Amino acid sequence: MSANLLLGKPVQGALLEEVTAATRAITDAGHRPPHLTAVLVGGDPASAIYVRTKTTKCREVGFGSEGIILPEETTTEELLAIVRRLNGDDKVDGILVQLPLPKHCDTKTVLDAVDPAKDVDCFHPHNTGLLVQGRPRFAPATPAGIIELLERSDIEISGKHAVIIGRSDIVGKPMAMLLLHRHATVTICHSRTPDLAAVCRGADILVAAVGVPGLVTRDFVGPGAVVIDVGINRVADRAQAAEILGDAADWARFEERGYLVVGDVRPDVAEVAAAVTPVPGGVGPLTIGMLLVNTLAAARGRRDIGNAG
Ligand code: GUN
Repeated sequence: MSANLLLGKPVQGALLEEVTAATRAITDAGHRPPHLTAVLVGGDPASAIYVRTKTTKCREVGFGSEGIILPEETTTEELLAIVRRLNGDDKVDGILVQLPLPKHCDTKTVLDAVDPAKDVDCFHPHNTGLLVQGRPRFAPATPAGIIELLERSDIEISGKHAVIIGRSDIVGKPMAMLLLHRHATVTICHSRTPDLAAVCRGADILVAAVGVPGLVTRDFVGPGAVVIDVGINRVADRAQAAEILGDAADWARFEERGYLVVGDVRPDVAEVAAAVTPVPGGVGPLTIGMLLVNTLAAARGRRDIGNAG
């Protein structure tokens, strides 16, 4: 028996259609469309692709969008000056500072400087507080996308045991809050959790968000579990890719790119689980979809455009 594949693209497509219709209603009523500005510091190729994809998707739904690309040497002060300018620019509804920033930048100080009303990543402590209290202004895009995927796939959350591997501010912690508010019993595991596999085997819903390629093996998964893989790991070592992916490895792609993208979950987990998200093509597209949902919410929150659409 093989698990259902939970694909991100169809859910992203539905989200994009909804956002496109809402944007059309806003512009039909004579208002400017929502506008997202993304800031990228340095030349990390993966981050550059993410930012380009985000600004392209914005245009697809009718948003205004801009990518500000800054050199690797940009200082915290220079970045703060740009964030403050964007905070004061009435045309900008959403601000996204792509992470990770270069090591010499003070990430917390930069993220704290983003106007909470424009914080479409939901990284500002003010927005984190609202999320924890169950009255979110925004929800962080990746965990919120996972909730959309579960709900739109008719996977029950209430009363289930959800186990999350990883305690990051971007995924693990907000994922726990979103599941808790939907009445799951939530366990958060991390590098110091004893017998991780045994804890994970008790999960109805298992979310892996640690960035360790292939960490989740078959013995982490109980029969019938739903397994969500948030990992996007580039593996350039052929032997490591072969060991994790087995028959699922796409060697033509490996030759072409020099690496394979591998999740935190091994593909053979599909032989035990009821449903799994593939990597790539699972959670990734949902993050972008929810960023657009958040940008629409930011525009509605900041401007008197009613709830058109
Ligand atoms: N880098 C990895 N994930 C994210 C995200 O959700 N937002 C931003 N800004 N950077 C990221």
